[in-house]
Amino acid sequence: LSKVEIKLGDIPEGKNVTFKWRGKPLFVRHRTAKEIEVEEAVNLAELRDPEHDKDRVQDPQWVIVIGVCTHLGCVPIANAGDYGGYYCPCHGSHYDASGRIRKGPAPLNLEVPFYEFPDEDTVIVG
Ligand code: FES
Repeated sequence: LSKVEIKLGDIPEGKNVTFKWRGKPLFVRHRTAKEIEVEEAVNLAELRDPEHDKDRVQDPQWVIVIGVCTHLGCVPIANAGDYGGYYCPCHGSHYDASGRIRKGPAPLNLEVPFYEFPDEDTVIVG
């Protein structure tokens, strides 16, 4: 009930798939090499809620975040917005491909839940 098991082989590179976890949308994003490179190089001084990409992921290929905008709780759209990550259409918050807030009214990065990889093809969230 409180955990969800996801098969990573079903998620192609460059795609974000939305699951449901504890009544909330859960985003699992399979990043491209280019996205990883861009997010790892972001200068923390540019960030409203400064967090290094490495502190938000366990494996750089996989971004796992709760799909709830930290402004007023809408569900952002994947692969949209000025930073290529997520865009919240409710009031225009732009998140990068690490789920970090970059522009718009949201105060915080998308939340990273507790998760683990029991094997190469599986993530268990919760
Ligand atoms: Fe997302 Fe307001 S709820 S920008």
